[in-house]
Amino acid sequence: MVRKIDKDIKQYYADRAYEYNKTYLRPERQKDIKKLHKLLTTLLKGHLVLEVACGTGYWTKTIASVSKFITAVDVNDEVLQIAKSRRIPSDKVIYVQDDVYKLNKIQNNFSAGFAGFWWSHILKSKLKRFIALFHSKLQPNALVIFIDNRRVKGSSTPISRIDIHGNSYQIRKLEDGREYEILKNFPTKKEIRETIGNKVKNLKIKFLTYFWIVSYNIE
Ligand SMILES: C[S@@+](CC[C@H](N)C(=O)[O-])C[C@H]1O[C@@H](n2cnc3c(N)ncnc32)[C@H](O)[C@@H]1O
Repeated sequence: MVRKIDKDIKQYYADRAYEYNKTYLRPERQKDIKKLHKLLTTLLKGHLVLEVACGTGYWTKTIASVSKFITAVDVNDEVLQIAKSRRIPSDKVIYVQDDVYKLNKIQNNFSAGFAGFWWSHILKSKLKRFIALFHSKLQPNALVIFIDNRRVKGSSTPISRIDIHGNSYQIRKLEDGREYEILKNFPTKKEIRETIGNKVKNLKIKFLTYFWIVSYNIE
């Protein structure tokens, strides 16, 4: 049987919706999380933002506090309902239920694109295709930002296996005991640079202790 990794990830986050936000409360990560909020509010000020895989809207709320408008996309209604409960003013945000690998419901008029903790869940073989589709929804010169986890011993869930293409996986457990094997990649700076390619401008890759952030402008 061929495993449908994307389907597994989608289901896992639907099932995890109500416990997801606890990930942002981990004490050792607070200093870095504060830095990410500061960076995002500085970089995305005044932008028309497309956020993909927005989840429960944790970053959506921060970005909406400074951006002109944010379109927040996720495939799971379970997480979008929680995002909506954050009560971001409706003249600042719209939520769209769509698949990041299709983005059929999304126009191409954004001045910035953002994805938080999504890159790591994309198979290496699909990354470039996803990025090309994401870029196609943005205006020329648009700003693109990705943030994601670094692998930190003692803090990250251990890697359970690595497939023949170099994708790594973790066994994740929900509070009710349900277990899932989830794709979670931890790219190096070199891999990030190679994936984005050299057709972009102002590329900056910053590794904090627990997270990485990349920003650049498309052509
Ligand atoms: C790790 S969570 C990140 C959530 C949010 N960006 C954050 O940083 O808090 C990944 C999100 O991707 C969503 N997702 C999974 N597969 C998707 C797909 N094919 N299209 C759109 N969203 C998807 C899940 O529902 C989940 O909300």
